[in-house]
Amino acid sequence: MLIDTYGRVATDLRVSLTDRCNLRCTYCMPEEGLQWLAKPDLLTDDEIVRLVDNAARTLGIDEVRFTGGEPLLRPGLVGIVERVAALQPRPRMSLTTNGIGLKRTAPALKAAGLDRVNISLDTLRPDVFKALTRRDRHKDVIEGLYAAREAALTPVKVNSVLMPGLNEDEAPDLLAWAVEHDYELRFIEQMPLDAQHGWKREDMVKAGDILASLRTRFELTPEGEDERGSAPAERWIVDGGPHRVGVIASVTRPFCAACDRTRLTADGQIRTCLFAREETDLRAALRSGAPDEEIARIWRLAMWDKKAGAGLDDQAFVQPQRPMSAIGG
Ligand code: GTP
Ligand code: 5AD
Ligand code: SF4
Repeated sequence: MLIDTYGRVATDLRVSLTDRCNLRCTYCMPEEGLQWLAKPDLLTDDEIVRLVDNAARTLGIDEVRFTGGEPLLRPGLVGIVERVAALQPRPRMSLTTNGIGLKRTAPALKAAGLDRVNISLDTLRPDVFKALTRRDRHKDVIEGLYAAREAALTPVKVNSVLMPGLNEDEAPDLLAWAVEHDYELRFIEQMPLDAQHGWKREDMVKAGDILASLRTRFELTPEGEDERGSAPAERWIVDGGPHRVGVIASVTRPFCAACDRTRLTADGQIRTCLFAREETDLRAALRSGAPDEEIARIWRLAMWDKKAGAGLDDQAFVQPQRPMSAIGG
């Protein structure tokens, strides 16, 4: 079991498969991209499967989410999913992606055993998409969204980050679209995890603003707290149901007290939190021949020290060295 000093138990493992991405979202990375991790530093497919197996067998992990950067850029993705699906016990498996290329790979991912996907879509307007992501790929994302549902990678959740001056007025349109096409939409408050360190609390679109904007067109009823569990998203029932809309308000309504997550970066570092200042090197242990029991012991010790929260409200808050794309969201 991965328990910390606050009594929280991590049962959800987020594994970053690559730090690379084919978009350049302004809230994430600069136009020119970043200094990518070198191939030999990445965990191999075998190493990833071995760690997930260990986590599922001995550490109580029952849910695994693959992230990036953009996880569809990892050549071995389908094979990794297939091998994790064959583990005993078999964890539930999901993927967070920007949707580009999903049109082609969704059926193979489903066949390999992936349960569901979350896809980022910040705007319905191709020109705004291009300004926001610096790439003209809106159509590919929409096709990816349709493919995910056709392949039954459901429920398909859609993640939107609203940015001032770009798409901040789009919340009601996005929700109307999600309801019409039967996706579960969640708005994410922009977090200070961009590589450029350009985040400003005064500029971000806050949960309160998003809800006020949605209420100009929809009736929103809060879903009971019991249904939330450890989920980052707080949800509202839209116009009496059955659709829901979520808000992931990491900044203005943090949810760290119920956190059940542990993270593994693409280069094999355990992170106890998105905002953790320290990491624990599992790759070195793996590559020096440590047996599974030793790996499990290192993981338990790392999680034991998990901080109470992200600390965004602390005077002394310092953004983590690693940007979002190298942590895995
Ligand atoms: P499900 O609700 O299980 O589908 O997954 P999820 O919402 O946790 O996953 P997803 O990868 O779609 O993440 C959506 C947003 O929630 C991203 O911006 C994540 O960075 C954010 N998020 C996920 N876990 C945490 C967390 O522990 N802390 C914070 N602050 N944000 C998180
Ligand atoms: N703040 C909030 N959300 C972000 N994402 C990427 N960077 C940030 C950020 N700085 C979102 C992506 C994706 C999800 C995994 O996290 O848009 O939907
Ligand atoms: Fe890529 Fe995700 Fe970062 Fe956008 S937010 S550049 S999709 S890693």
